[in-house]
Amino acid sequence: MKLSPLQKVRYQYAPKLPGMLRNGIAEIGVKEGQETQSVADQEKIKALFSNTYGKKEVTFEKGQNTSETKKQVVGVILSGGQAPGGHNVICGLYDALKATNKENVLFGFKNGPIGLVEDDLLEFNDDYIDQFRNTGGFDIIGSGRTKLESDEQFAVAAEVCKKRGINAIVIIGGDDSNTNAAVLAEYFAAHNTGIQVIGCPKTIDGDLKNEDIEISFGFDTAAKTYSELIGNIQRDANSAKKYWHFIKVMGRSASHVALECALETQPNICLISEEVAEKKMSLSQIADYIADSVEARAAKGMNFGVAVIPEGVVEFVPEFGALIGEINELLAGSKADDFNALKTWADKYTFIEKGLSKDSMDVFALLPQTIQQQLFLERDPHGNVQVSLIESEKLFSALVADKLAERRANGTYNGKFGPLHHFFGYEGRCAFPSNFDSDYCYSIGYNATMLIQYGYTGYLSKVSNLSKPANEWVAGGMPITKMMNIERRHGEDKPVIKKALVELDGAPFKFFAANREEWAVDTCYVYPGAIQYYGPAEVCDITTRTLALEHE
Ligand code: FBP
Repeated sequence: MKLSPLQKVRYQYAPKLPGMLRNGIAEIGVKEGQETQSVADQEKIKALFSNTYGKKEVTFEKGQNTSETKKQVVGVILSGGQAPGGHNVICGLYDALKATNKENVLFGFKNGPIGLVEDDLLEFNDDYIDQFRNTGGFDIIGSGRTKLESDEQFAVAAEVCKKRGINAIVIIGGDDSNTNAAVLAEYFAAHNTGIQVIGCPKTIDGDLKNEDIEISFGFDTAAKTYSELIGNIQRDANSAKKYWHFIKVMGRSASHVALECALETQPNICLISEEVAEKKMSLSQIADYIADSVEARAAKGMNFGVAVIPEGVVEFVPEFGALIGEINELLAGSKADDFNALKTWADKYTFIEKGLSKDSMDVFALLPQTIQQQLFLERDPHGNVQVSLIESEKLFSALVADKLAERRANGTYNGKFGPLHHFFGYEGRCAFPSNFDSDYCYSIGYNATMLIQYGYTGYLSKVSNLSKPANEWVAGGMPITKMMNIERRHGEDKPVIKKALVELDGAPFKFFAANREEWAVDTCYVYPGAIQYYGPAEVCDITTRTLALEHE
């Protein structure tokens, strides 16, 4: 493989550990805190996790290492979407295991959780692991979205571990994968397998966070990568002064990524899905909100701008949600075949008109034809509309164009509107991890080894105090059951880690809300530039604005 100059140099970077983990393995002591309770539904969660519920929070500190000295054989899994820094979690795990005992073994299960049930794995060694230090991607072992959730899968997993002599599994994943990690830990404990399970908090979406987990890894790098691109586009817009850029950013349902990009770049518009839901905004209201900015800027001679759109926003528009529900119903079962048999779009449109309620048809009629067709073409294996595939950046620019045409007819607007569209998602998921993510991930992995060494199971590797320099970070662990509540999923009550959406009374949103009116009508762009890996700490080691505002 030909290496870029940056990759060669990044191999030499030594990630920073929390101060308490820097004194060598023999001097990592443990302190147990209070017994824990789940965030809600305590009795139900306790009943479901009778072997792993209520365990104590754990902090590592400088002191004598009192853990049992036994050979560790650990298996690691990367689960779900890529997030920068995943390789460093594995490097941290590996280095701590080898520093504890040269005989320790780390296996990597290939292609996500499926690798565990299919016994598809590789054993890491120095040469292999060194190729991946401080690099982006999950290609070290691959990732996948298979879920491990049934007793049959767990029994196979236990067999595979027994065959390989594995005494601990580390699952690197988001809220769902770590929920499954907790269920697996409970199964292994209930069946006296002696196999521990430790989770590590991953996802660029930033929605795996709570009072214990300050941020999931990957968010920092992904948001900074998108912010670099948004800043560059803003500078182009401000130079050419002729385009309005509608930029959708990844992040699934939550708007953490969009909000962080807005805090870093100060665009004219940034929609926040959670606010759209709270205010029950309609598509027309959102379009008017954006058109107000276009009109006000045009009146000042600025026929350009930037609007940031979170990936999941349409799901949060109540009338759109109702429309999606009716479409799913309209095409349920064999009705989809009747629809697909129709030859022309005009015939299909008549079918749709007959099937939808008047309210939903009004919403449907508002949409540009390409989006209307997307709603009926892009369907998941269950036949449901795939909301994430809807090109909401195009949807909103088309709705805004309609609003501007009305305003032009009314004489309030006489500007020029040249919309361009972008979607930033995969561009950020495998970037070279920022120094923050390199350090944080390596620390999470190193720390996971300490949790294994001290015999914990059903814990999430927790590194906190992240808005401070790394030597002040605090390493420890938290029982995953503490983060759980009961939610209705696919018609069933399930214990799950509570997903974190943007809090409208939180400091990051409040800062944004206090400034956005000015950003909408003036040009207040900030240009963050590319992530810097070498240079002054105030440029290279900064965390996100979200984290800084939350912990100021
Ligand atoms: P995870 O939740 O698994 O971390 O994935 C994050 C994400 O990048 C979302 O932001 C995005 O909606 C989704 O994955 C895309 O999934 P896929 O990689 O399957 O296209």
